[in-house]
Amino acid sequence: MRILLFSGKGGVGKTSIAAATGVRLAQMGYRTLTMSVDPAHSLGDSFDLEGGLFHGDTSDPKPIADLLWIQEVNIQREIKRHWNEIAGYITSVLRTTGLGDVEAEEMAIFPGMEELSAMMYVNQYRREKRFDVIILDCAPTAESLRFVSLPTTLDWYVKHVFNLQRKVMKAVRPLVNRLGPVEAPPDSYFGNIQDLFLKIQGIDKVLEDPSITSVRLVTNAEKMVLRETQRAFVYFSLHGLTVDEVIVNRLLPGEIADSFFVEWRESQTRILREIEAYFAPVPVSKVPLFNREVLGYEGLRTVAEGLYPAGTDPAAVRQLEKPYSFARKDGHYEVRLHMPFVEKGEIGLFKKRDELIVEVGTLRRHVGLPTTMAEMVPVKARMEEDVLVVEMRSAI
Ligand SMILES: Nc1ncnc2c1ncn2[C@@H]1O[C@H](COP(=O)(O)OP(=O)(O)O)[C@@H](O)[C@H]1O
Ligand SMILES: [Mg+2]
Repeated sequence: MRILLFSGKGGVGKTSIAAATGVRLAQMGYRTLTMSVDPAHSLGDSFDLEGGLFHGDTSDPKPIADLLWIQEVNIQREIKRHWNEIAGYITSVLRTTGLGDVEAEEMAIFPGMEELSAMMYVNQYRREKRFDVIILDCAPTAESLRFVSLPTTLDWYVKHVFNLQRKVMKAVRPLVNRLGPVEAPPDSYFGNIQDLFLKIQGIDKVLEDPSITSVRLVTNAEKMVLRETQRAFVYFSLHGLTVDEVIVNRLLPGEIADSFFVEWRESQTRILREIEAYFAPVPVSKVPLFNREVLGYEGLRTVAEGLYPAGTDPAAVRQLEKPYSFARKDGHYEVRLHMPFVEKGEIGLFKKRDELIVEVGTLRRHVGLPTTMAEMVPVKARMEEDVLVVEMRSAI
């Protein structure tokens, strides 16, 4: 099974590109599900479905075409299905602070619930072998990063806090219930958390396996959008996910001759070159600006035709090697870059702001550093087979 995760800044065209990719994959014979993880769902709108996606109260995959399904995670339904005890408890606590019922229920929807629910579905479908490809249409970058970091957070919570908290609670509950204004969580609350944990178990390995999960970053050829895309690239790598394509959407087509757009075209061309240099060797694909909104099955099919020329398979595994990773070794940090075909002697390294820049001949790779390493400088480098290992130490 393959998981393709589409991420990028708000409004760049993630939903359109994710939906178009789904259309193409289903046409190629893959059982394909495109799932929206963005609370501001627009997948149903992208397919121009009359009345949106929800008829009745279902968030189950809805068949759209042969071998193609779409799903929008409906948080209200998910709460009933998976979070009943947890949300119930949180609501009861919030009520004691004087909040009305409606407000308390609203606030019990905490950040990450949607993402976690989507992850449970992905895990369930994977176990059932129900689809060949699952496409995740993610919320803007920050939220998608929360999505991919959730399994580790939960893992930590369960290992360190949950078991202890549960034991302590067993011992003190009779007391708390008598004294405190806030009731201790009932046993079913813990049961519910444990249940959820079991449902997402294993998903972190799935997300970090480049033969299963690939991240596709959607961007526009605009400076402000590019900055966010670069940060996204760094942080996905940091979480161990592999970005194997950058898709530049809304490029002005050649036939626009109006002088009004001259500057736009020049800056797009310049930023496109910057994008190609920055992300190399990750392939960069281009999608033109269309003369109207991308809507409906036919509109999406047109996008797919441009993006995936005949003979290309959007589900193909293109990159088995993570582009780079970060590790903490005794007393220092290491940046590890997969750099086939190079000799150590031809590599130049220097630091510019929060980036480590690696030069090989005329080629440059910018490695955005995580905040913890931003103040460090490269002190040593060595090749371990195809991997360049750069030792980073604090400059102060
Ligand atoms: N290449 C394009 N040409 C014309 N319209 C586009 C293009 N890509 C996206 N759109 C339109 O832009 C709007 C936002 O796109 P969408 O895919 O919803 O972005 P996101 O999911 O990143 O917020 C939609 O109305 C969509 O139809
Ligand atoms: Mg969207």
